[in-house]
Amino acid sequence: MQQRNTTLGEFIIEKQTEFQYTSGELSKLFNAIRLAAKVVNHEVNKAGLVDILGAAGDTNVQGEDQQKLDVLANDKFIQTLKNREIVCGIGSEEEDDFIAVNSSDEQDQNKYIVLMDPLDGSSNIDVNVSVGTIFSIYRRITPIGSPVQLEDFLQPGIKQVAAGYIIYGTSTMLVYTTGHGVNGFTLNPAIGTFYLSHPNMKFPETGKIYSVNEGNYIHFPKGVKDYIKYCQEEEDDRPYTSRYIGSLVADFHRNMIKGGIYLYPESSLWPSGKLRLLYECNPMAFLAEQAGAKATDGFRRIMEIEPTELHQRVPFFCGSKKMVEKAEEFMARNA
Ligand code: AHG
Ligand code: MN
Ligand code: MN
Repeated sequence: MQQRNTTLGEFIIEKQTEFQYTSGELSKLFNAIRLAAKVVNHEVNKAGLVDILGAAGDTNVQGEDQQKLDVLANDKFIQTLKNREIVCGIGSEEEDDFIAVNSSDEQDQNKYIVLMDPLDGSSNIDVNVSVGTIFSIYRRITPIGSPVQLEDFLQPGIKQVAAGYIIYGTSTMLVYTTGHGVNGFTLNPAIGTFYLSHPNMKFPETGKIYSVNEGNYIHFPKGVKDYIKYCQEEEDDRPYTSRYIGSLVADFHRNMIKGGIYLYPESSLWPSGKLRLLYECNPMAFLAEQAGAKATDGFRRIMEIEPTELHQRVPFFCGSKKMVEKAEEFMARNA
């Protein structure tokens, strides 16, 4: 029976002691993310409404004062994190460089940095399909009190302290891990509270769904082409079902619940893959592993890749363990 009465706020406090370096700072950071998630949720919902009004002939929706939702989500998360003075640095898909956050407190002890994809799946906004926010949290490696440096952001995924996503779907959920399993919380929009609805989430060990942009098929490496053919063959529990939303968060969320694999390989269109290591692949890989699944670039564990750039892209193979291992077999055979 699922617990339905624990709120995210209560859960964060309850779990605070599980955390090795607990000082309450991480809990405050989660509270800020929780707040920003609610604000962005409100904006995402409103944007649909604005689009409907626009289509009905309201010209006011055009022009300068209409911000794009991904920029708006970026601003809301940055504002919330900055205002609360709980991080020393932020890296975002929407910002060319990382942002150093200066605390007004001279004894500034903030030690966490956040990397984020404020609005994932932005091509789906206009068509009322699920979008998300992805975040990843690290402890800085340069001395506390000094301005953050690029090296604080270029840490491998195994160093993540926490990671998660918000899915703005048929309901809005916040799913996160601090390295002690994965828990999902559903927003009750009437009262603006997230409740624990999906405790201890686990990917099924195998599944029957493959998610890939098959329109790019001819550009894929042979290993991926062969794996896709394998998924389509009539044998054992195959053919599998193909499902591709085009929002990583939504594809991942479905695969975690139902069992499946997500692929964004390298191709002649995207020589290093399309997804970004630091704020898309690493946080999803951390969640996947914590939920008993696997995330690789076809050969290497995502979380062990040493980043060299803030906006670095990598191929991404993520999902039910057995499915990812099978895809890796095809990659190795064609390497
Ligand atoms: P974003 O909206 O943050 O740029 O990310 C979009 C990503 C990912 O969410 C999705 O799975 C993928 O791009 C879709 O890419 P294609 O349209 O190339 O399939
Ligand atoms: Mn994205
Ligand atoms: Mn994005």
